[in-house]
Amino acid sequence: MNTTTTHPAGAPKAISAAGLGFGYPGRGPVLEGVTIEAAAAERVGVIGPNGAGKTTLFMLLCGVLAPTEGTLEVFGATVEPGAFRPEIGMVFHHTNDQLICPTVREDIAFGPQNTGLLEEAVSARVHAAAAATGIAHLLDRTPHELSSGEQRLVAITGILAMEPRLLILDEPTSDLDLRYRRRLIRLIERMEGQTVIVASHDLEFILETCGRVLLLDAGRIQADGAPAEIMADEGLMAAHGLEVPHSLVATWHRHRGSGVDEHGDAAG
Ligand SMILES: Nc1ncnc2c1ncn2[C@@H]1O[C@H](COP(=O)(O)OP(=O)(O)OP(=O)(O)O)[C@@H](O)[C@H]1O
Ligand SMILES: [Mg+2]
Repeated sequence: MNTTTTHPAGAPKAISAAGLGFGYPGRGPVLEGVTIEAAAAERVGVIGPNGAGKTTLFMLLCGVLAPTEGTLEVFGATVEPGAFRPEIGMVFHHTNDQLICPTVREDIAFGPQNTGLLEEAVSARVHAAAAATGIAHLLDRTPHELSSGEQRLVAITGILAMEPRLLILDEPTSDLDLRYRRRLIRLIERMEGQTVIVASHDLEFILETCGRVLLLDAGRIQADGAPAEIMADEGLMAAHGLEVPHSLVATWHRHRGSGVDEHGDAAG
């Protein structure tokens, strides 16, 4: 299955990857022939089993790793490993890699400071981002003393404070309680103009936040299209170690299987 997604003619591409390949030293290829085009303001989910290459793909997108094959542009400029691209913001799965300052406040301020903003503007960014994610009460805490969910929220807040044009989220809901997870969903829903690419095993989160999903397995894009269509395809999902998310199973039964409508009333 490969549903082509169309974009408005001439719209600048947020992500343009062609024939991307990558392998870690001493191992076989992890990504092969990955071609992705994402329009500005698109919200793209990336799903796939453990070891599929999702995190590796994101490491290429943010310039931590360099592709061994193919080309990769973000907003029309080639991603050069190590180059300063503040318009690209990535929340890493392992937040320890990201939290480096003695206080949460300093950690969130670190990115905006590096973009050359004045202290007042940095402070405004810190407070706005912390209010948006609901962690204002953590600003004076030490990052390494926080719970893992709190640390993830701080990492997300630090990237949001940079106001990146491309937001890359690797497993953002892991460790989050339902209230913070819901808050993150609302935040993404309200974003205007920001492009979001998000990898997650939380398929319901992808269904709620993304207009498109890529199914990655064995380092290749196996499907590309509407989340509700791809994720409802039981055969496709099973072939890649995934299950149809509960909300889509329920829909299927409501409409085709049980003769019971969505209010629980018997049909007829
Ligand atoms: N630093 C590394 N050195 C060698 N191999 C690696 C390294 N990082 C990842 N790999 C391998 O690359 C493959 C893809 O890993 P990756 O982390 O991209 O998968 P993923 O889709 O993000 O998986 P998960 O769902 O578990 O997060 C795996 O087989 C993994 O073992
Ligand atoms: Mg991963």
